[in-house]
Amino acid sequence: MAQPESVATAAVEWDATTYDRIADPMTRWGAAVLDRLRLAGDECVLDAGCGSGRVTEQLCRRLPQGRVIALDRSAAMVAEAQRRLALHAERVTVLRADLAKPLPLQSVDAIVSTATFHWIHDHESLFAHLAAVLRPGGQLVAQCGGVGNIARVHAAAKAAGVDLDPTHFATPADTERRLTAAGFIEVRCWLQPEPTPLDAGEPFETYLRTVCLRAHLEQLPASEHQAFLQKVMHQLGEPVIDYVRLNIDARRSDLEYKA
Ligand SMILES: C[S@@+](CC[C@H](N)C(=O)[O-])C[C@H]1O[C@@H](n2cnc3c(N)ncnc32)[C@H](O)[C@@H]1O
Repeated sequence: MAQPESVATAAVEWDATTYDRIADPMTRWGAAVLDRLRLAGDECVLDAGCGSGRVTEQLCRRLPQGRVIALDRSAAMVAEAQRRLALHAERVTVLRADLAKPLPLQSVDAIVSTATFHWIHDHESLFAHLAAVLRPGGQLVAQCGGVGNIARVHAAAKAAGVDLDPTHFATPADTERRLTAAGFIEVRCWLQPEPTPLDAGEPFETYLRTVCLRAHLEQLPASEHQAFLQKVMHQLGEPVIDYVRLNIDARRSDLEYKA
């Protein structure tokens, strides 16, 4: 389903420096996702939605003779990833590109993606773009928000007067169907509840501002951000985020992909 242009463009940029500092939950989940990737160490792997590069950095350690393409749409995230990945610069290409469009890449051996797919509304196109750059037989290993993800946070935002939800929290069944249609085989998707406690007060507020409510806040004038965040935190009570992650394992069909 198409999104209004205001939503599609409003949510592009991130406070990448703050994200890098507070992304401990995503980095922890990312390590478990990388564990599902079978690597010899000399492959070329795409990190689709690399953010500030904390998970990409772990991926680089798994590829001592390989290469990594760290791709993201946000200019601020790309700059932060370049800084973080500078030590691995000879083996890493940091690329600014949009996963919602055909990707400007040669074929890769595997694709990993963490905490990203739910920001992209059209998963049919997304999976087709990934299949088009993944070599036949190559692995796709990913995790993103799944159905029910941060439902309490969105309900609290709605109660505080902002009802925009630009995210796409898909079900495992829909995702398996879309991946199969895009030319993936051995598809397995499953949900993983990850209720995540955070430190109360300023750390909780910063986390909500930077991650969960980032796109909601962009719909409000800056002068109203603080009051909105306070209302949401009051609604939520306990500083716990009701994350539900959608895991994805698949392999690209050995047959040539036909767009
Ligand atoms: C929550 S961050 C996750 C970053 C990193 N993978 C991690 O686990 O820490 C989501 C990232 O997805 C990127 N993203 C969202 N939509 C995108 C798109 N259409 N194309 C490329 N990147 C996108 C954002 O810019 C952001 O850096």
